[in-house]
Amino acid sequence: MYNINKIRKHFPIYQKYPNLVYFDSSASSLVPREVIKSQNDYYAYNGTNVHRGAYRLSYEATQSYDEARLKVAKFINAEENEIIFTKGTTDGLNLLANLLLKDLKEDEIILTSMLEHHSSILPYFQHNYQFIPLDQQRITLSGIKKVMSEKVKIVAITLGSNTLGYITDIQPIIAYLRQYSCTIILDCAQVVAHQAINVKTLDVDFLAFSAHKIFGPNGVGVLYGKEKLLNKYSPLQYGGEMVEKVFIDHAIYKESPFRHEAGTPNIAGVIGLGAAVDFINHLGLSNIAKHTNYLKDYLLRKMALLNEIEIYSQNNELPIILFNVKEVYPHDIASYLDTYQICVRAGFHCAQLVTNLLNVDWTIRISLGIYNTISDCEIFIQRIKEAIAYFKGN
Ligand code: ALA
Repeated sequence: MYNINKIRKHFPIYQKYPNLVYFDSSASSLVPREVIKSQNDYYAYNGTNVHRGAYRLSYEATQSYDEARLKVAKFINAEENEIIFTKGTTDGLNLLANLLLKDLKEDEIILTSMLEHHSSILPYFQHNYQFIPLDQQRITLSGIKKVMSEKVKIVAITLGSNTLGYITDIQPIIAYLRQYSCTIILDCAQVVAHQAINVKTLDVDFLAFSAHKIFGPNGVGVLYGKEKLLNKYSPLQYGGEMVEKVFIDHAIYKESPFRHEAGTPNIAGVIGLGAAVDFINHLGLSNIAKHTNYLKDYLLRKMALLNEIEIYSQNNELPIILFNVKEVYPHDIASYLDTYQICVRAGFHCAQLVTNLLNVDWTIRISLGIYNTISDCEIFIQRIKEAIAYFKGN
């Protein structure tokens, strides 16, 4: 087991707020000093553009940017030209959906689910979409079989729910879907911080994730796509450095990844993402999962003793606890906890249809990170008991 206090020293925020109990890592993980430094160094000592300048500083910036792409590619066992840098998961999923929808015929169908983050549902509202029937709130092969047909051309689902914390048993689903001619897209925003992703074993067509959930900066993310698909489709966006030759009525575009990265990218963000991948590799994903799930089980045992709490995320795989204090507004609880520097998320967590599944308006979400400790959990339990007494008068 790790020395968590040693790990916490990597996160400058704990110097400013030593009593912080940060339970919102599914929204954004805290940022270690190595990631902050890598970005600061780029701005302080370089700041030039990439792939464009015929001078040393630009070559150096390009080298750092390309090294980050290689690190990300290795992280998910992809090839370098299969990694497209985006603004984040939402950006990647939207750009991709808009690209693929252009080729869809009117009667062709997209399968998605009510478990999804909005970025994996709302882009498809402009077309013919259908929800996969869930099985105890999980996406399963049997649910998919009920709605799969030759008409389905896109299956866009989450690998891990950002609310209920379920990891989809994806391998048999992909093996089954391969009998059909459809594009498979995975939202990996949550899982990427807790479980190794191997795109070759997965045999997925596209997947997306964000840097800010794996200790990296905001505003940068990854869209992975199979090389042959990335080179088959027209560019995601048009602009600088993505074209070989422009004629007055047409253009010849570069191959992936440049084909899909129009304009000056978020260079500092990408370099920061590279540093975040180094950091997460150093910690080890299985160690992170072991620690955070250990804390989750600890919290669940303690929370189960409190009759006023209703827990919705049962037997999940991600370190997420979704709950409510019966008959108290989640935002009131979150605000109460905030007065003790305990950060939880209240609301519908960018996945509003999940509230329909649970038959509630809002929920409170705890999501754990490697920097959380048993002491964090004890403080939370003490304060939630107080909050229950305060709001319910018992
Ligand atoms: N999508 C992020 C979350 O789940 C912001 O909180």
